[in-house]
Amino acid sequence: MAALLKRSRNPDDFESDTDDSDTVYSQSSCGFDAPPTVSSNTSYTRSMRSSSPVGSVWSLTDSIREAAYKQEYGRELNSYSEVYRLPADAEERERLEHQHTMFMEIMGKYSAPLPSVLANDTPGETKAILDLGCGTGSWILDAANDFPHCNAVAVDLVPMQSPNMPLNCRSEVDDINLGLEHFYGDFNVVHARLISSGIKDFPNLINQIAHVLRPGGLVDLMEWDFGCYDEWYQPIRLDTSTIAGPWWPRWLAFLKLAARNRGGSVDAADTMYHCIKDNPLFDDVVYRTFYIPASPWDKNNAFNMHIGYEMQKDISSFLRAGRPLLLGSGMPENLLAELEMNAYREVAEARGRHYIRVQCVYATKRDHRP
Ligand SMILES: C[S@@+](CC[C@H](N)C(=O)[O-])C[C@H]1O[C@@H](n2cnc3c(N)ncnc32)[C@H](O)[C@@H]1O
Repeated sequence: MAALLKRSRNPDDFESDTDDSDTVYSQSSCGFDAPPTVSSNTSYTRSMRSSSPVGSVWSLTDSIREAAYKQEYGRELNSYSEVYRLPADAEERERLEHQHTMFMEIMGKYSAPLPSVLANDTPGETKAILDLGCGTGSWILDAANDFPHCNAVAVDLVPMQSPNMPLNCRSEVDDINLGLEHFYGDFNVVHARLISSGIKDFPNLINQIAHVLRPGGLVDLMEWDFGCYDEWYQPIRLDTSTIAGPWWPRWLAFLKLAARNRGGSVDAADTMYHCIKDNPLFDDVVYRTFYIPASPWDKNNAFNMHIGYEMQKDISSFLRAGRPLLLGSGMPENLLAELEMNAYREVAEARGRHYIRVQCVYATKRDHRP
């Protein structure tokens, strides 16, 4: 698969070369790894504040279900967080599963150091993996199956609903905003992907992750900026004073504002590299950014066309997923309907030559041991 890789020292400058150990590079939407295999089974640990790493196993009874979810604007949402307002229902789970497969095609399955960090090479230590905001658990289930000698813990606002949970994996229901102190010193890998809109203080989360990791452990983050980019990778900056095209970028501007007003860290994608780089507990910081076509508009690039079709499906569902957040932010139903319908058509007809951008950072925790 073709990979158009532009390396840069600085995430704000994608052109200059570097040979530093702290590596920064950008990639215009191309991938370099095989798709994942996802397997699963179910056991649910519901712990609003469990002691770590051992949790109790619960089955998802009707009462837990009732407590974990609520209905809003025709969708099922988590009932714990007033910050994270995207759905947690079957349609959203399907979108996240599909998105996971697409990310595997674009970015590969794991960040480069992960297999060696999780190697079964330390007598007396059972290595452990933590996935924060696991969603359907697609990533942590892969990791638990691929590294069966490790313990895997998945945390989310709702129980992970997987029919085949591996024995070395458990799901905890928790709000990350309440803190991670109970996990300090327990994990070799901490992974989090696209959770920023539910996190109140992302720099504080990064600092906490530094303490959750064992020496030599790996933090692996991926976030997006709720923005849209043109075909030259320039941000399309739009305000929310009008309902007008370009429609998908405009819809995103409204969504970003609504998520910010809820208290979500919608700027995390842009700030997390520097937060990690400036944290003395982290070393070997690697930055990557990917521009993913929002629809199949790039007819000269077969891989971008393939991913564009996948994103087109993702965005169609995402436009519906954003309704509770946007309506809950006070947007009138008729204006949202106009915005949503036009955005849907724009993406379905591949009219906008648009990208969305995800940013990925991984780093290791300094090992001061002799
Ligand atoms: C967009 S989904 C991404 C799911 C998964 N990381 C993935 O990439 O497939 C965001 C997930 O983060 C979870 N989340 C957001 N804020 C959270 C918080 N404060 N505590 C726990 N989970 C949170 C949501 O419930 C949701 O499942």
